[in-house]
Amino acid sequence: MAQENPIVYLNGEFLPLDQAKVSVLDRGFLFGDGVYEVIPVYGGRPFRMEEHLQRLNNSLRGIRMEPPLSAAEWGRIFTRLIVGDHDQSIYLQITRGAAPKRDHAFPAGVAPTVFAMCSPIAPVPVEGVKAITLDDIRWQWCHIKAITLLANVLLRQQAVDQGCAEAILVREGFAEEGAASNLFAVVNGVLRTPPKGHAILPGITRDLVLELAQANDIPAEERRITLMELQGAGEIWLTSSTREILPVIELDGQRVGDGEPGPIWRRMNAIYQAYKQQLRQGR
Ligand code: PDD
Repeated sequence: MAQENPIVYLNGEFLPLDQAKVSVLDRGFLFGDGVYEVIPVYGGRPFRMEEHLQRLNNSLRGIRMEPPLSAAEWGRIFTRLIVGDHDQSIYLQITRGAAPKRDHAFPAGVAPTVFAMCSPIAPVPVEGVKAITLDDIRWQWCHIKAITLLANVLLRQQAVDQGCAEAILVREGFAEEGAASNLFAVVNGVLRTPPKGHAILPGITRDLVLELAQANDIPAEERRITLMELQGAGEIWLTSSTREILPVIELDGQRVGDGEPGPIWRRMNAIYQAYKQQLRQGR
């Protein structure tokens, strides 16, 4: 279902992916000076578009940029990029643009670079994945969805090198989130996820899981998880727009629970899939 050369959006134009080009002086390329969003698309409609655009505007404010487009303008762009009704995700990125000369400080009078594309979402491995814990070497502003992802890239690769799908990042003894996902754990029978703050990205999937837990009487709390609690957790999940609710069955080479996706995950995943199915059917 992946189109070979889909139409993408770049700075006001719609054009085939292989023709979309930006300057080598773009500050995204030179400094990683920009922000991004990933928005799932179910049944041909962007999921929680308002919340994603709100987070985008928060990220922009965090790096002292103005929103280049309104929600209505984004909506019109997405409509043109979405083809078919299979599960997809919109990737969008805004950088501080291409200035004539390389200088760390903000350039004056430079238009931002605005890019968006839509790609299929790969099926989620429901049999579960392995993860490792690693020291969180990222910066202090992880609530900003910055394109500057070198630390995340290095951490994820370290996990992949060890045959794992994700690195769970630990800061001062607390497990915060994955390299590209939020963290849930079942500690003493209760579902728990770290509270929002500067140490994590405020995930839209995380919010949805908490909402679904509340609506279905699954006890859940927003509370920090120590590394020791994580190591003794009955279940561990990772959530993101592209990997939904991913059960972790092995952590640092040790089985999580009985080494299979746990009962609370099975229940939550069924609720989540039913919810998605309703969205696909436009309900
Ligand atoms: N990443 N934490 C981090 C560091 C992330 O990069 C992501 C998502 C999340 C989950 O957020 P959400 O549920 O809104 O997708 C948490 C995206 C998918 C990415 O970088 O591709």
